Amino acid sequence: MQSQIEPQVCFLNGRLVPRSEARISIWDRGFQSGDAVYEGLRVYRGGVFQLHEHVRRLFLCARAIGIRMSLTERDVAKAILDTVAANRIEEDAHVRITVSRGDPLSSGMDTRICANVEPTVAILVEGKKPQMPKSGIRLATSSVRRTPAQCLDPKLHTCNQLGQILAKIEANNAGADEALMLDTDGFVAETNSANIFIIQGDILSTPRADSIMPGFTRQLVFDLAIERDLRVRETRVSLGDVYMADEMFITGTVNQIVPVIEVDGRAIGTGKAGPHTGALLERYLQEAEKLTVTAVA
Ligand SMILES: Cc1ncc(COP(=O)(O)O)c(C=O)c1O
Repeated sequence: MQSQIEPQVCFLNGRLVPRSEARISIWDRGFQSGDAVYEGLRVYRGGVFQLHEHVRRLFLCARAIGIRMSLTERDVAKAILDTVAANRIEEDAHVRITVSRGDPLSSGMDTRICANVEPTVAILVEGKKPQMPKSGIRLATSSVRRTPAQCLDPKLHTCNQLGQILAKIEANNAGADEALMLDTDGFVAETNSANIFIIQGDILSTPRADSIMPGFTRQLVFDLAIERDLRVRETRVSLGDVYMADEMFITGTVNQIVPVIEVDGRAIGTGKAGPHTGALLERYLQEAEKLTVTAVA
């Protein structure tokens, strides 16, 4: 679970600083209340995959929760590339950008205390391969439900991740790799960190974008599935559907496409990574290398 290379240089509020100097205030809203948005990105051959898409989502989510960015999207994209370059990592790096509402003069919930405060912008780069094994992972269904849009909309990619963290603790305690989270109606939503797909025959099903964070990897899988003559369905997925699936996998930028071989102690399909999943991963990796960005105009 350790990074292969410790992050050496971080971006903090406009400056590249050594890790030891990358410190934020204890008043920072991200620290005090999780009042922050973030993105997780991946580096392939020195370029950042879907850089502009991630930066766009960061800005949209910041706007949605009322964080006013004074940096432009171009500034942030450039800051990400500069931080990657400063760390001299060409392959297998994970990038995390966090933007909090900033460091106000006082603590409290009212966002007006941040009216004249700059958001905190922090970027870290870790030389880290995808951590989940491509031979397949085990899921355990969590008692913690994914928040519906009526509560905290999961489309808002915020640092409020306690529900997912509690679910992951349950999965750890159950000896599983990831938690399978249900929505408040008891249907499958996503895992604590990734979107879910199942395959039954030639039908590829994934939960509708109600109680999930509909990721870029999920979207790319829709396009790649058509190449394999799979029929894509965004639909309600029950736990029964999961247990009866031929294949199952999860998707996300940081861990790519990962086969699921067991859920709640039941083997999925043959109990080994399935052929469609393997082929989709191979195509995904080809696309990932094509869609990287190494410079911003
Ligand atoms: C809860 C959740 N679901 C799904 C994803 C996958 O999104 P993407 O494919 O855009 O990385 C993420 C990524 O951060 C996530 O946090």
